[in-house]
Amino acid sequence: MAVKAKKTARKSNTIKLKFDTSWSYDPAPESKSAASIKPKYDHFINGAWVKPAGGKYFDSINPANEEKLSEVADGNEADVNKAVSAARNAYEQTWQKMPAKERAKYIFRIARMVQEKARELAIIETLDGGKPIRESRDFDVPTAANHFFYYAGWADKLEYAFPNRKTSALGVAGQIIPWNFPLLMAAWKIAPALATGNTVVLKPAETTPLTALKLAEIIQESDLPPGVVNIITGAGATGADIVNHPDINKIAFTGSTDVGKLIQRAVAGTNKRVTLELGGKAANIIFEDAPLDQAVEGVINGIYFNQGHVCCAGSRLYVQESVAKQVIRKLKDRMETLIVGDPLDKNTDIGAINSRQQLDTIQRYIKIGKQEGAEMYESSCRLPGKGFFCRPTLFTNVAQSNRIAQEEIFGPVLSVLTFRTDDEVIEKANNSPYGLSAGVWTDKGSKIFNLTKRMRAGVVWANTFNKFDPTSPFGGYKESGFGREGGFAWVIALCEFN
Ligand code: NAI
Ligand code: MG
Repeated sequence: MAVKAKKTARKSNTIKLKFDTSWSYDPAPESKSAASIKPKYDHFINGAWVKPAGGKYFDSINPANEEKLSEVADGNEADVNKAVSAARNAYEQTWQKMPAKERAKYIFRIARMVQEKARELAIIETLDGGKPIRESRDFDVPTAANHFFYYAGWADKLEYAFPNRKTSALGVAGQIIPWNFPLLMAAWKIAPALATGNTVVLKPAETTPLTALKLAEIIQESDLPPGVVNIITGAGATGADIVNHPDINKIAFTGSTDVGKLIQRAVAGTNKRVTLELGGKAANIIFEDAPLDQAVEGVINGIYFNQGHVCCAGSRLYVQESVAKQVIRKLKDRMETLIVGDPLDKNTDIGAINSRQQLDTIQRYIKIGKQEGAEMYESSCRLPGKGFFCRPTLFTNVAQSNRIAQEEIFGPVLSVLTFRTDDEVIEKANNSPYGLSAGVWTDKGSKIFNLTKRMRAGVVWANTFNKFDPTSPFGGYKESGFGREGGFAWVIALCEFN
């Protein structure tokens, strides 16, 4: 690695060390050979692979090179019916009757098998969705295993967790997940449902079905009783068939606010329980007394992590006016060092945007930002010739009312705004249709407590960002959805109290 420093004279006669950012890391690609992807996948229903009733399949591609990886079954109503009746049957005949400590053994077994196949799962996640291998290897897959471990521990404690109350499962859970954390979201939804005695019909997103199907293979190998977990693939229409199925007791959805609203309408007047985990526009707030380098690193992680494909991405940065210039300069310097490119390369910081459609959305917002009069800065890195890529981008001179400060972009695009006082920044941070997460950077503990109390956000990180743990509840205010998933709260949301 070579870093060259150039001396540049500035007007003020101070000397600035300007780093030439042509970091010359040698490529360090992870090998594809450790991953086995079948050319074609059917639905996983009742413990077996079942051809789609309509006979249709669709491709899942690698967004980093636009090459086809596999084709997967396109589910229709008949497939959903089959999956729901398998789940109902398994619930009534087997899973509900099984002693909790026996249920836990299966969940522990799945956790261990996810760990054993961690490398393969990480590679498939990166190939199918475009996220850097470092992230899928160090975050997605271990956190997915941790979810199975954590909830396995809950299964036989439920009867002691609610004194003087008896709990039972809800029945069949329909779970619809997005493309930003495909395996982790599957684990996040499946593990607590199994621990509480529910059975599952899960649908992964159409651009990233492969790790969920790999998980189906693991589940099959774990000897989990047939029908307890069913995984069917398809796009929005298949998701809607799950939502509308009359024999589902609980819908858990993570995805866009628009689809969340459709789901809420669809289940109104039914007995289905719902948790919705939707979009976000997190405010990340830096006070002048914060450790600025640490804060800048946190902001970079908060927005560029996973290409900004994170519902709780710190996409609005509020910097106290007195340090704004300094913070923006540090941010730009750090952006220049980010490596954008082959997601399988272990040096890559920012991988591929998940789909052409999402790249179009991001580029549309970048255009809107410029039209709104904000000033755009993007890193000068070169982008690969094929695949869907976007440079890390930030906007300064952003107004609170600008669309780039109000709407979810879901890409590596940061809007920077400034403030003077605590009251002002609280008002601005809360002035959003969303309320999923937020971040505060300050040296003063009292300020953290004062601020976090007043923020309308489900998660507030202090002097850190994007930290997840299966034991923590997670969920939003306002258009970010309702209900809490994660931790003990997720257990409660999946139980009936008698
Ligand atoms: P989406 O909400 O359409 O997709 C999420 C999941 O919902 C997928 O599995 C999809 O097949 C399913 N789905 C789509 N329409 C459905 C319907 N009518 N009924 C039931 N299920 C349905 O999200 P999309 O279009 O992929 O992304 C659009 C925007 O949504 C993104 O730009 C981003 O702003 C936001 N988003 C937010 C996520 C989050 O984690 N909160 C995750 C993914 C997207
Ligand atoms: Mg794909």
